Formats: sequence, C-alpha cells, structure tokens
Amino acid sequence: MQVLSFASACSKIPDDVLVTLRADVAEWQGSGLSALELPFTGKAFADIKALAEHDLRALLDLPDGYHILFLQGGASAQFAFLPMNLLGNASHCDYVDSGHWSRRAIAAAQPYGDVRVIAAGDGHTLPDPEEWDRSPDAAYCHYTTNETADGLQFQTFPEAVDVPLVADMTADFLTRSIPVERFDLIYASAQKNLGAAGLTLVIVHQSLLGRARRGTPAPFDYRRQADAKSRVNTPPTFAVLVASRMLAWLRTQGGLAAAQARNEAKSAKIYAEIDGSFYRCPASPSCRSSINACFHLPDPALDLMFVEEAQVQGLYHLRGHPDVGGVRASLYNAVSETAVDTLASFMSDFKRRRG
Ligand SMILES: Cc1ncc(COP(=O)(O)O)c(C=O)c1O
Repeated sequence: MQVLSFASACSKIPDDVLVTLRADVAEWQGSGLSALELPFTGKAFADIKALAEHDLRALLDLPDGYHILFLQGGASAQFAFLPMNLLGNASHCDYVDSGHWSRRAIAAAQPYGDVRVIAAGDGHTLPDPEEWDRSPDAAYCHYTTNETADGLQFQTFPEAVDVPLVADMTADFLTRSIPVERFDLIYASAQKNLGAAGLTLVIVHQSLLGRARRGTPAPFDYRRQADAKSRVNTPPTFAVLVASRMLAWLRTQGGLAAAQARNEAKSAKIYAEIDGSFYRCPASPSCRSSINACFHLPDPALDLMFVEEAQVQGLYHLRGHPDVGGVRASLYNAVSETAVDTLASFMSDFKRRRG
C-alpha cells in the first residue's frame, strides 16, 4: 500500500529527490565517499553549500546585503539566539502573540530582556499588522507567519516597519512568494519544506550583525557565523545537501509563485470538505493556513477514529498537535495534489459513513 504522509515534521520529500539522495549516500559524484562522509572543510561540501545558497537567493530574489546562515539547533534555539544577538543596548523587543509557536518564542526571549507583547490573536483570528502596537525604540519586532499547531497564517505581510522585522517562517518558508526586502531576519527549520531535520536557515541583513551580548557562544553568534561562512562549528552537512536538492527541485517546479498557487489549490480542496455540518475548523476563513489545515470532528472519539481509519487507507500522520488535539493535514510543497485528492475523498466518505 502506498503511504501518503501529511506529517507536520519531518514531512514528505519528493520521490525524485529521494532517488537522488539515495545515490548521493551511496557515493558522492564518483569520489569514492558517501555524501555523509564529506569533510565540512572540503571543496565538495563548499560546492554543495554554495549551490544551496545560489538556489535560495534565486528563489527569493534576495537583495544584496543579506547573509544566509546554515545553523543547527532548530527554530527553538533561534527563539533564544534572537534576543542574544539583537537586543544590543535596547531596553525591549516587540512580539506578536498569534498562537502556540509565537508563545514559545516569547517565553524563550523573556530571560534576556523586556519582551512586550504588542498584539495577540484569539485562536481563531490573527491581529492585523496595521494594528500592532509597535514601539519605535524596540530592538526588533518578531512575529510568526504561520502557526503550525493552530492552522493560522497571516495572509499578507506587514508593510515595512520602522524597527527590524524578524519572522519565524519555519512552517511556510518557500511555500509562497515573500517580499523579503521588508524583513531584516527570517528563520526557518528545514524539516518541513527543506527536507531534513538538523538544519536551520537564518537569513539576516548585515545591519543586524555585531550586536551580540557579551558571552554569546560563538556558534550562536550571527556575526561570527556570517564571517566564518557558517563554519564556526560543524554545520549539519547532510541536511545542507538535502536542502540543496530540495531547492533545486523547487526551482524545477516553477519557484515560489507556482508553489503558492499549488498550495492554495490543495488547501482549498481540504477546506471545501471541512466547510459544512460535520467537520469544524477553528481558524476563521481569512486566517486559514494554506499548509496546515487543522480541524475537529464532532467529538474527540471521532477525531481518533478518523485518524486511525485514515491510516488504514495509507493516509498517515493526521493527528493534531498534542496541545491542540483534533486533526491536522500538513500540505507542504512536496505533498502532491493527488495525495490531497485522496485525503479529500476519504474525508467525504468518512463524513457520509459517520456523520
Ligand atoms: C512555526 C514554528 N516555529 C518553531 C518550531 C520549532 O521548530 P524546531 O522543532 O525545529 O525547533 C516549529 C515546529 O514545528 C514551528 O512550526
């Protein structure tokens, strides 16, 4: 039976990319070494990283002045690295509370300074960026573009703000077009749209470098990592290769605008099944995520039955986030339209049988 994964992470990797990676692991381009054995200081890895960076810059149309850092520790580590690197002499930083992950970011920043929550959502809607109570003297303003656990996504990006704008894009990075010039720092773990866990990308404008507080460990210091081309310590070499293969694949698929169109079409099919009398979606339509469709059935026992019966049909990893419950279908770039059609028809059938 074919397994279709709707996992939040680690998520689906395109079959073509997996074929290439199998060959890379067996032997890296006639070198006699596996891709897992390439020294991080050698030319082969430098070339892999350079290609990943080249493709990422092309996909984002990244203006000059930004560094791309290939780091370890996940987005959760960035939650602390941000205030360590960016607070400088400022007295406070601004955060938007939009759901589960932004609250984790807020909690992690609090030990480092005064964290002001300048706007908050209510679990169903997101606070309009026009109405965030931003302070002009904040060190930076942080928000989470897509709340993976709650199924909420900001549909538009804030206009340029007067303090450095920082975004956790872990879930929706590269799933849609991004006006990257409005951001001073973007970070994302790789295990959703860039392949393997273990790599975190940080895209940081050079104007933010050199502000790290005293005592910041070198691997966590953006300036030192930028100067060392992400080699202050050993980068997650294999995860960088996987990311490089994923980026090349995304370019062959038409880039970000095409990905956005596909993801909107896929999620529309799932929301069409949700809307009606049986399934319930906590996110209001104007804030629904195009990549994490979260919903509930009439009671938790039915949620469980749905997830278990789906798995018997080959539809895997549909359980909601543990703190939220319900069902979650993650529809990242590599989840095919066919997989989504199969899920939509299972939803329709389940509703007919159990509704
Ligand atoms: C929006 C968001 N931020 C942060 C994280 C945490 O990422 P990591 O597990 O790589 O630390 C996640 C994980 O799902 C996420 O979805």
